[in-house]
Amino acid sequence: MSTIQLRTPIPGPKSMALHERRAKAVPRGLSHGTPIYVAKAEDAWLEDVDGNRYLDFAGGIGCLNVGHRREAVVEAIRGQLDHFLHTCVQVTPYESYVRLAERMNEITPGKFAKKTIFVNTGAEAVENAVKIARAYTKRPAIIAFEDAFHGRTMMTLALTSKTHPYKAGFAPFPAEVYRVPFAYCYRCSYSKKYPSCDLYCARHLEDTFKKVVAQEEVAAVIAEPVMGEGGFIAPPPDYFGVLVDLCHKHGILFIADEVQSGFGRTGSLFASQRYGIEPDLIVTAKSISGGLPLAAVTGRAEIMDAPGVGGLGGTFAGNPLSCAAALAVLDLFEREDLLRCSVEIGDHFQKRAREWQDRWPMIGDVRGLGGMQAIELVQSQDTKVPAPDETKKITQYCYEHGLITITAGTFSNVIRVLVPLVITNDQMDEALNVLESAIASVCEKKGAAVQMA
Ligand SMILES: Cc1ncc(COP(=O)(O)O)c(C=O)c1O
Repeated sequence: MSTIQLRTPIPGPKSMALHERRAKAVPRGLSHGTPIYVAKAEDAWLEDVDGNRYLDFAGGIGCLNVGHRREAVVEAIRGQLDHFLHTCVQVTPYESYVRLAERMNEITPGKFAKKTIFVNTGAEAVENAVKIARAYTKRPAIIAFEDAFHGRTMMTLALTSKTHPYKAGFAPFPAEVYRVPFAYCYRCSYSKKYPSCDLYCARHLEDTFKKVVAQEEVAAVIAEPVMGEGGFIAPPPDYFGVLVDLCHKHGILFIADEVQSGFGRTGSLFASQRYGIEPDLIVTAKSISGGLPLAAVTGRAEIMDAPGVGGLGGTFAGNPLSCAAALAVLDLFEREDLLRCSVEIGDHFQKRAREWQDRWPMIGDVRGLGGMQAIELVQSQDTKVPAPDETKKITQYCYEHGLITITAGTFSNVIRVLVPLVITNDQMDEALNVLESAIASVCEKKGAAVQMA
């Protein structure tokens, strides 16, 4: 039986009424990809207040790798509810925080001694990673990448690349952030081709140290192993090895921002493992706690201990409910083969999307790692001119037909897959059938318009 069940035109009357109230009560700066109001969610689907059921390719923007409301996660939260809700770990600590830190230290890449601090959001974790890197190296500068996204606080906006809608109008940002091109092979900044480029974009960091910022001023290079908001850009397999070696040659730390790529998304627990690297600091959030707010910085013990006593923390940081949920999430990863599911989702998507690419010139690129997959839409495969309007029409069609998708990319022309890893094969086919019809409908309309002209 089909999971998608639509009972009303989308959005339904109750969602529309709520949206009117929302327009009066909430600022427009908070946007909604899909203005249907949620009533409940399980595994890989959610239902709106009008009783319409959708498949969910967004997973709360990558927060639900283990699935919506997994029983084990809900039980762990319920168990914690009966004990205490909040004490503030800086006032009276609790065992679950320490246990979760121990487990994070074990499961993150690198056999060296590690420590972990917990905070609330991805941006807060990135902020803390920068503080820790500066305290350890006693250097000010951070190098970030074009197309990167690290959050919406002031420091993380400085590290984030995309101007509209994230940065424009919010300057000034903190100083000592320098930006270099990423390994975005589909749109190489140096017009080179992998592998003949010999990873020019990674090696070019040496030039940056001569022309832009001296190496002895740089505390850290921060990168998303697979870039998320920037368009699901997975660099070539040997890219990060070269980049990390270069950092270490100059005493620079490498921070992996795995907020989106972590917790099984790419077919390993962390995307860094797919690249065979051991980051000095690794930032995690989103799917760490199955839907509750939690984020972490995990790193080499001596680096993590650089800030003085009282230099790190936050009132709600590492709250007991989130810690309980995160421990349940880690148990699920131990018990269930979610990593295999991630790889299978990736294969399933790639197979269908490659067929679309052969059929429709608007599918410029199909890319990703494991279950972190995307298509980049262009006016034509030859010109690679981005197609953001068509991308929007496709996502609109999808949600009107029961599939929630979200876009990404500096040019807003990428459709990404962040589906909970528990989606079944039948559900995946159902979702991909909707996406295929959406692409067909937009491409065919576009084809007809070109013929008329
Ligand atoms: C790679 C990456 N870093 C940081 C963040 C910011 O996380 P949060 O929205 O929890 O602050 C995000 C959010 O999408 C992200 O994808």
